[in-house]
Amino acid sequence: MACLRCHTDKQGPFVFEHGSSLVEGCTTCHDPHGSPNRRQLIFQSTADLCHSCHATVPGFHIRFRPDTQCTNCHSAIHASNLSPYFLK
Ligand code: HEC
Ligand code: HEC
Ligand code: HEC
Ligand code: HEC
Repeated sequence: MACLRCHTDKQGPFVFEHGSSLVEGCTTCHDPHGSPNRRQLIFQSTADLCHSCHATVPGFHIRFRPDTQCTNCHSAIHASNLSPYFLK
């Protein structure tokens, strides 16, 4: 994949890969041609991005607001060798 030529840290293989990332590709979440949003994301809000694919989240997530930065906890959002939930 073209992006991985430069972004080699995203290449893996990883123990836990984020379903969308390597299968469908980086552009399911990023617009590399320029996006007004931070990190060239296709949604302004990280939560909206996540919810566009994830209809269900654990019950305790009900306290999170639309502006919650999901990646504060899901910090290894691309893939992880340690956490199946991309928490580290
Ligand atoms: C020719 C090398 C190269 C290629 C190919 C490349 N990038 Fe990048 N990308 C970079 C560099 C350099 C940066 C800036 C890194 C930095 O600021 O730390 C960057 C930054 C980014 C960022 C972060 C932007 C930000 O606001 O911090 C994202 C997201 C990104 N690239 C996604 C992609 C995607 C998706 C692709 C494939 C469609 C891609 N890149 C292909 C070199 C490349
Ligand atoms: C499931 C959605 C998703 C996919 C797929 C995805 N990213 Fe990201 N990416 C994000 C999010 C969310 C952030 C911002 C993380 C944060 O809050 O700082 C990000 C941040 C980045 C950054 C800047 C910070 C960093 O981690 O270096 C780069 C570069 C990047 N992505 C490249 C890629 C590349 C290359 C691919 C494909 C291999 C890819 N992304 C696939 C969601 C995704
Ligand atoms: C393009 C669709 C897409 C986007 C956007 C997306 N995900 Fe995922 N995510 C997936 C798929 C597919 C899986 C694999 C789940 C499965 O097999 O049911 C997954 C798996 C996960 C898992 C592992 C637990 C599980 O359900 O398997 C977590 C945690 C997760 N995603 C969090 C996030 C977060 C947080 C965001 C926003 C930053 C996000 N995802 C954005 C498609 C997506
Ligand atoms: C305070 C930390 C925290 C924040 C913020 C957070 N999460 Fe999570 N999330 C977790 C933990 C911990 C788990 C693992 C739950 C478990 O062990 O069952 C998880 C699991 C998930 C899963 C996997 C569900 C499953 O059962 O497969 C998804 C999807 C998810 N979170 C989405 C989100 C989205 C979307 C946001 C932002 C709106 C978000 N998370 C914000 C901590 C967080």
